[in-house]
Amino acid sequence: MTTIPLTNAPISQLPLSDYAKHRAAFMAKMPTNSIALFPAASELTRSNDTEYAFCQNKNFYYLTGFNEPDALLVLLKGKEGKAESILFSLPKDALHEIWQGRRIGQVKAVEDYGVSESFEVADIDNLLPDYLDGKSQVFFGFNDHTFAAQVFTWLKKVKSSIRQGAKVPEQLVDADPIVAELRLIKTDNELALMRHANHISGLAHQRAMEQCQVGKFEYQIEAEILHEFAQYGARNPAYASIVAGGDNANILHYTANNDVLKDNDLLLIDAGIELDGYAADITRTFPINGQFSVEQKAIYQLVLDAKNLAINAIKPGMSFAELNVLTNAFLTEGLVDLGILQGDLAELIGEKKVKDYFIHGLGHWLGLDVHDVGDYHISTEREQLRAFKKGMVMTIEPGIYIPLTDLNVDEKWRGIGVRIEDNIAVTKTGFENFSVNSPQTIDEIELLMKAPD
Ligand code: GLY
Ligand code: MN
Ligand code: MN
Repeated sequence: MTTIPLTNAPISQLPLSDYAKHRAAFMAKMPTNSIALFPAASELTRSNDTEYAFCQNKNFYYLTGFNEPDALLVLLKGKEGKAESILFSLPKDALHEIWQGRRIGQVKAVEDYGVSESFEVADIDNLLPDYLDGKSQVFFGFNDHTFAAQVFTWLKKVKSSIRQGAKVPEQLVDADPIVAELRLIKTDNELALMRHANHISGLAHQRAMEQCQVGKFEYQIEAEILHEFAQYGARNPAYASIVAGGDNANILHYTANNDVLKDNDLLLIDAGIELDGYAADITRTFPINGQFSVEQKAIYQLVLDAKNLAINAIKPGMSFAELNVLTNAFLTEGLVDLGILQGDLAELIGEKKVKDYFIHGLGHWLGLDVHDVGDYHISTEREQLRAFKKGMVMTIEPGIYIPLTDLNVDEKWRGIGVRIEDNIAVTKTGFENFSVNSPQTIDEIELLMKAPD
């Protein structure tokens, strides 16, 4: 497979000025005389005195681009509408910086990150009650119970000064849905970053195909993927890579990755990088020995055609609900043709029998989180009715899963699990598929995996 070059200049990070634009967009939703609070993530202990790799709180990152733990962003909108942003962050600390790593500090936070002011985290408890005093509304994310408790501690402090003239804010507003709606529509820079993330992830999927051999272990292929990620500037995967040989593909979130790869089995790989916080989420399935069997080919082609059918229908105004109708009917008909489902086609479609084999959703929003935020407008029938708009990015990922334990089907189908997943941006008139750099047709895959003569 020849690598398809990126058509647009690749970017590996957003300019810091974009985060100021994100803050301005949030502040445009705040009424006058209000305050919004966004905490950074903290380091998480793995065991004793070792930590997991740090992952920033994604809403905080979206509004700051700041990647240190324990910080706090405060957005203030005054009575006349004047907007200010204040970043509390950890102080410069020579000893910490010798042992653990550099910190940005308060001076650079203002210079580089464009906030109005920056203070040390040690000042938070002193300053926050003053900021809250007299505001009409307080915005913060209701999902974070620990932080909500912290907000109430500060509010209590304001309340304790009522006799001195303090005024407690009357309304608490959940900031999460507001940030989610902003995050859902990607800017051109975000799209360029995600396109680049897909490109690199595609190279990793190609490498996995090239390096795959009967007898290797799943984790060895995972290492090949991580190698390629790092080679192109992305150290971290966006989620734990799934490298699932044979029947392991029928475990949807299989991450043990410790089995040996067997002849005549398929290998399902669901892996993508995180680039400046933004995720790629690509799945490819291919034969471990480089050649699809007749049954594998049949299932694979059906899933591939279903994926392409759904993707080609994407445009503004379309919805996951409508794509589901198309894809479910198509897959049902395909499974009837193969003799895997039996009965009247219309009845099988009406009963959604395909869901016995296509056991997850067709796709999800993609962005700073792999399952990104943003309302789907889910109806009581659990349909995702939201109309697509330019700038949304989603995955399309049909799959067919037939575990070895499924005694309802002919033995020849058992142990086959296929998912194919692309990342798609909605454009003004249609779609752009970011995942063009990851081989997916049967011919492309067999050619790439063919041993040199
Ligand atoms: N990698 C997780 C998913 O495809 O949803
Ligand atoms: Mn996905
Ligand atoms: Mn995936």
